[in-house]
Amino acid sequence: MTSPTTSATGQPAPQSAPQGAPAPARYVEAEAFGGPEVLQLREELVPAPGEGQVRLQVHAIGVNPIDLKIRSGARGGTAPFRLGYEVAGVVDAVGPGVTTVRVGEEVIAFRIDGGYASALLVPAADVVPKPASLPWAEAAGLLLAGATAVHALEVTGVGEGDVVLLHGAAGAVGQAVIQLAGLRGARVIGTASERNHDLVRDLGAAPIRYGDGLVDRIRAAAQETGAPTAAIDAAGTEEALTTSLALVDHDRIATVVVTPRAAEAGIKRLGGAAGADPGTAIRDAARAELARLAGEGLLRVRVVRELPLADVQEAHRFVAENHAAGKVVLLP
Ligand SMILES: NC(=O)c1ccc[n+]([C@@H]2O[C@H](COP(=O)([O-])OP(=O)(O)OC[C@H]3O[C@@H](n4cnc5c(N)ncnc54)[C@H](OP(=O)(O)O)[C@@H]3O)[C@@H](O)[C@H]2O)c1
Repeated sequence: MTSPTTSATGQPAPQSAPQGAPAPARYVEAEAFGGPEVLQLREELVPAPGEGQVRLQVHAIGVNPIDLKIRSGARGGTAPFRLGYEVAGVVDAVGPGVTTVRVGEEVIAFRIDGGYASALLVPAADVVPKPASLPWAEAAGLLLAGATAVHALEVTGVGEGDVVLLHGAAGAVGQAVIQLAGLRGARVIGTASERNHDLVRDLGAAPIRYGDGLVDRIRAAAQETGAPTAAIDAAGTEEALTTSLALVDHDRIATVVVTPRAAEAGIKRLGGAAGADPGTAIRDAARAELARLAGEGLLRVRVVRELPLADVQEAHRFVAENHAAGKVVLLP
């Protein structure tokens, strides 16, 4: 008989040998393209990890607007399919060749596929250590919005002394942009509904209402901050685009919501949409630093709702209202 640490030949097992029996899991499958009702809970056995993989027992799952777009069919593909780009959990098995992470480690995984699950296999290259001080839900909601914010700040060259015009300041991406811009020594004028102005102010930006008269309100806010020198659009409205083009040098405008008008205008378009810059290297490189900042309390993730995985349809309905003002997280 062999112990878990010795192989069948009696030699010590290589550290990277796959461990454990298949793990039972619940996961969400979209059975077709459509509304939230296409999301169904299923069960499966997740096998031991293969070469370069780890298996996670998931503690929290970040829900993002992109999940809704994919579910609707707006991004193409074939059904059935799985959703979920970011999770936080504990490693319960590591595959051959994995040396960077150990069984029992608390990690954040991003960018992964099929994260709406209680257990799953992910590439070891896509996990970073979760700071012990960071709650599970915040960890699960940190990296997609955070890495997007870093990408937008990088390509617009935001640094000390800049003033960023930020559309969609109360959303998850907006909140990350405000805080990370502040850490770079920049100031932010951010658009949000009035009920979110205290939130935006607390994060360090000058809040203004979007809607008619926006350019005048930006000019008024600029009396305090200085005129905008860069613009980041996390709202994707016609108004956001027009306003950015009116006030900021074309080369320093970026949007994370890719629209035909943004393409026509020739501004920087970021993310996974056709014709956009995915920024994979920038985003991957940002993960460890974002985790460090969040662990040290320098980057806050505001979680507004935590729902059981079984309530995934409700989670999608809530995000679809487009006024979440923070992260929605599923708990398996
Ligand atoms: N390209 C990428 O890589 C990438 C990555 C992440 C997200 N995104 C996209 O970026 C957008 C924002 O994502 P998110 O995660 O931040 O979403 P979110 O957390 O759901 O936030 C959406 C926010 O938009 C604000 N908003 C709604 N209508 C607005 C308007 N007309 N003008 C300004 N703000 C408005 C809302 O704030 P109020 O309640 O104050 O109105 C709301 O809090 C989504 O379209 C998402 O798909 C793209």
